[in-house]
Amino acid sequence: MKRQIFRLSALLLVGAMAFSACTKEGPMGLPGKDGKDGKDGRDGRDGVDGTAGCIQCHDNSQVNFAITAQWERSLHATGGLFVRNTNTCAGCHTSQGFREIIQTGSGNTAATINNPVPPNCYTCHNVHTTFTPADWGLSTTANVTFRIDPTKSHNFGKGNLCATCHQPRLPSPMPTMDGPSINITSATWGPHYGTAASIVAGKGGFEFGTGYTNSAHVNVITQSCVACHLTTASGIDGGGHMMNLGYTTSTGAAAVITTSCTTCHSNATDLNNLITAKKAELTALKTQLSDRLVQIGMLNPTTGRVNTGTWTSAQAGAFINYKLVSGDKGAATHNFPYAKKLLENSIAAIQ
Ligand code: HEC
Ligand code: HEC
Ligand code: HEC
Ligand code: HEC
Ligand code: HEC
Ligand code: HEC
Repeated sequence: MKRQIFRLSALLLVGAMAFSACTKEGPMGLPGKDGKDGKDGRDGRDGVDGTAGCIQCHDNSQVNFAITAQWERSLHATGGLFVRNTNTCAGCHTSQGFREIIQTGSGNTAATINNPVPPNCYTCHNVHTTFTPADWGLSTTANVTFRIDPTKSHNFGKGNLCATCHQPRLPSPMPTMDGPSINITSATWGPHYGTAASIVAGKGGFEFGTGYTNSAHVNVITQSCVACHLTTASGIDGGGHMMNLGYTTSTGAAAVITTSCTTCHSNATDLNNLITAKKAELTALKTQLSDRLVQIGMLNPTTGRVNTGTWTSAQAGAFINYKLVSGDKGAATHNFPYAKKLLENSIAAIQ
């Protein structure tokens, strides 16, 4: 190499001389001596075995396969809502949108997500980031600030992952306590469907009056959603990466997977009776509130949606609370005392 460079520069020099002395051309000089060889470089570091990390996950234990089979039965995989890919929906309804908003901290994605996919392994885990089992780490564990009330946040432990999506949205416009009437122009106005996190934490309701308390669950179950919902899979009914706990038995009855409850609620019969009783209590209150909302003309009984128009802040707040509790199918277990008080005080507020 050096030898070539030397020759090249010698050549250029001669060329330059040829141009500057264009009138008289002297004879070509002799080629210079070869330069000395450079010192040998140091050896590079040994590379790591390219597959050592891979095979810790891609082995023949069939764990991935078992979990994938569970996930394939889940509503995450089968529900089809990932087609909601525009910028205000994609953060919760598409995998790529979720990965984006947990980086940016924004509620919305910058743009529509093309080729959207539903929540999957890559949404909740850091699959193929370091290519080691550390990639099973969760994509987010940051405390959740509530969209419906940004002054409040909550630590759901590992459940922060779930609560980032399974939380109410901020209705637009949002009424204020004892504030002016609001004009509702959209039939889909309200806190949206996936409201669980608000009830689980006991935060984000339109809190009329006083008397709010939380279930013991709020403080004693530190990993929240993950502790109860990712319990050992129960056949093909739920749990594990299917993630649902409520299911329908072969005879059509509603049932609950209680594997994660038994450390505290040791008697299965008592627990099932407790769940049934608390659900019945909430159902009666929900009916009372929805009847009243229909009576004042705010709730459309056919569509289950709001009738657009001008509504007082109390009416709008009561509607929000109705949607918060009825949007959470697990409310009786999640945080019964809070859900009950929200309904009772809402009924009182619009009598
Ligand atoms: C943390 C565990 C983990 C490690 C480590 C890991 N993978 Fe994967 N890999 C996964 C998961 C989970 C999937 C997704 C399974 C699926 O698509 O159904 C996957 C999918 C794949 C696929 C299928 C194509 C795809 O993207 O879906 C290939 C090929 C692959 N991995 C190769 C590798 C190689 C090569 C390495 C090491 C350089 C590696 N993986 C390391 C967990 C891991
Ligand atoms: C990226 C947002 C997102 C994350 C993160 C997420 N979910 Fe979901 N989840 C959804 C959406 C959206 C649906 C509805 C899917 C559909 O119908 O297509 C859903 C559905 C469900 C359902 C079924 C609900 C029903 O009505 O039967 C359960 C149970 C569930 N998720 C639990 C969890 C748990 C537990 C976690 C945390 C480990 C979690 N989810 C994390 C968005 C998310
Ligand atoms: C904060 C996260 C979040 C955002 C933002 C969001 N959704 Fe959802 N949405 C959910 C979750 C979670 C569910 C599933 C609730 C469940 O099954 O428990 C859901 C459920 C739904 C459903 C199913 C309702 C049903 O009948 O079960 C529709 C339709 C829907 N979303 C549409 C949208 C649209 C359209 C947008 C954007 C304008 C949007 N969502 C924005 C979290 C979100
Ligand atoms: C909705 C979120 C979500 C989705 C989707 C999801 N996981 Fe998980 N996964 C979790 C949570 C939460 C845990 C429990 C983590 C813990 O307890 O530390 C977990 C645990 C695991 C574990 C055990 C990790 C360990 O540290 O031993 C494996 C393996 C795993 N998931 C694989 C997968 C695979 C494969 C897929 C795709 C088919 C997948 N997960 C999809 C949320 C999810
Ligand atoms: C104390 C345990 C517990 C905790 C903590 C918990 N859940 Fe649940 N959840 C349940 C049970 C039990 C049901 C089923 C209730 C029924 O059908 O009566 C349920 C129901 C649900 C459902 C309806 C679909 C289903 O599984 O039947 C969703 C969605 C849900 N929970 C999401 C969440 C989210 C998100 C969190 C965390 C913010 C959470 N849950 C925390 C126990 C729990
Ligand atoms: C870490 C302990 C613990 C776990 C795990 C637990 N619970 Fe509880 N649960 C409690 C305590 C404590 C109370 C309050 C008892 C009381 O007030 O008498 C309670 C109360 C309840 C109530 C009555 C309503 C309320 O909140 O006061 C229901 C329903 C309930 N639990 C269902 C469940 C279900 C279903 C599971 C499993 C999915 C579960 N619990 C898991 C400790 C637990």
